[in-house]
Amino acid sequence: MSLPLIASNKPTVLELDAGTHYWCACGRSSNQPFCDGSHAGTEFEPREFTLEARKRVALCNCKRTGTPPFCDGSHKGL
Ligand code: FES
Repeated sequence: MSLPLIASNKPTVLELDAGTHYWCACGRSSNQPFCDGSHAGTEFEPREFTLEARKRVALCNCKRTGTPPFCDGSHKGL
């Protein structure tokens, strides 16, 4: 299994609406931290996640987090 690309070495912090979202796991999306379909042909699939209410979140862009789609601080070790 190859490693995903590092889209950025810091998370995107934003307020997200309630509902289902798709986090880019391959690192290739041009719409980070969200999937834009660029994983096609790779071994990666986007991570679907659901928020019950509007919430401020930190979404991982280094793609090395242990708690996808959320940043766990792993980018500090890159
Ligand atoms: S941006 Fe990936 S762990 Fe923080």
